[in-house]
Amino acid sequence: MKDLEKIISILKQRGFVFPSQEIYGGFKGVYDYGPLGVLLKNKIKNLWIKDVVFRRENIFLIESSILGLRKVYEASGHLEHFHDLLIECRSCHQRFRADHLFEGEYGEVSYREGKALCPLCQGELTEARTFNLMFKTYIGPVEELASEAYLRPETAQGMFYNFKNVLNSMRPKLPFGIAQIGKAFRNEITPKNFLFRIREFEQMELEFFVKPEEAPKWFEYWVEERFNWYLKLGFKKENLKKYVYPKEELAHYSDATVDIYYNYPFGFKELEGIANRTNYDLKRHSEYSGEDLSYFDEEKKERYYPYVIEPSVGVDRLLFAVFVEFYDEDEIDGEKRNVFRFPPFLAPIEVCVLPLLSNRENLVKKAEEVYKDLKDDFICVYDDSGSIGKRYRRQDEIGTPFCLTIDFQTLEDNTLTIRDRDTTKQERIKIEEVKDYLREKLKF
Ligand code: GAP
Repeated sequence: MKDLEKIISILKQRGFVFPSQEIYGGFKGVYDYGPLGVLLKNKIKNLWIKDVVFRRENIFLIESSILGLRKVYEASGHLEHFHDLLIECRSCHQRFRADHLFEGEYGEVSYREGKALCPLCQGELTEARTFNLMFKTYIGPVEELASEAYLRPETAQGMFYNFKNVLNSMRPKLPFGIAQIGKAFRNEITPKNFLFRIREFEQMELEFFVKPEEAPKWFEYWVEERFNWYLKLGFKKENLKKYVYPKEELAHYSDATVDIYYNYPFGFKELEGIANRTNYDLKRHSEYSGEDLSYFDEEKKERYYPYVIEPSVGVDRLLFAVFVEFYDEDEIDGEKRNVFRFPPFLAPIEVCVLPLLSNRENLVKKAEEVYKDLKDDFICVYDDSGSIGKRYRRQDEIGTPFCLTIDFQTLEDNTLTIRDRDTTKQERIKIEEVKDYLREKLKF
């Protein structure tokens, strides 16, 4: 099993992920992204947009607000249903999610006189009480029901209450989709497992509207599409699996759900969910807003509420899977190496330019020239500090797939060496061919 603590420490040291507000003692369940984390996150989001939106027809990208009216979450059912059961220990005051507690996440639960005891200190536990996961706030100075607002717990609702706006402005016919990437917030009782369950995260969601009778077909289609997307990203098939929800586990809006699970260091857990949300949301928003969100089918000459198939994945949770999937350790010339074997299209830094020796002015000058030229087209860095071996190792540790080295031969024949991160092999090519070479290798 990969050493999660070691990976987390590298991620902090090398500027991928920082525990948020650490100088003030930290903020549980909230993380910040450093320079490399942001680059990688943007790559993931752009690849999703490319494959889910731009490579298809009839899928539209929107960005809706994070703040939502109380009415929206009454209509969506979140105020009524979006609860977890909370249990607290009367002695050590540890809080547990009831389902996690009884599933054995904290070890075996023992009983005294028929009552469950705290698995951490054997203290008495409180009764379970419901706890709404949404963050509530107030708009304006007065804290009253009418000014209540919520941070969205999913991006989905913005796609439903904008259904008519997209329909009227873009004039699509069924099937069509509305997609969005953005922040969501949940007041998780026990955020844990690094980026897996956090309180502030990003989602990439698609609401794909279909004719009701075609919903099962499109549901199957999206489950396959999304599963295959992870293979395309380079995940090993054995690290992924599907979990079909039994009826009693479905969310309040869902008629069918399949999760794509990833093999995290703590076991197979949900990475993405694909749900058939039926026409629940459009109907409910029509009812609560008084605005008719039905669709007029020109062919059938009939008005109805489309069904919706929703693939939804958390960016942070996917990022975590990417870190685990591609982290590796090996030995080069008898020396241990930490390496992120990101596929080139995912790598935060795509290419590093290095002069073989940093104290030779002609090498440095040429390397800077190459670097400046590449920077226009690629995510490129320049490194001339330390021995060449150390510099390669630093790039390996952040997953840079290609290192371009300027050496004495470069000055004679305008060639350089390209070092492959995974094999550490170098090949010599002409400088004028470098851009085409990289473009080909970075394709997705
Ligand atoms: N709109 C449907 C929806 O929100 P969900 O299964 O609750 O469904 C979708 O969430 C995805 O969002 C999950 O598969 C997961 O990747 C991500 N996600 C949910 N809660 C999260 C949390 N607390 N921390 C990180 N990611 C989370």
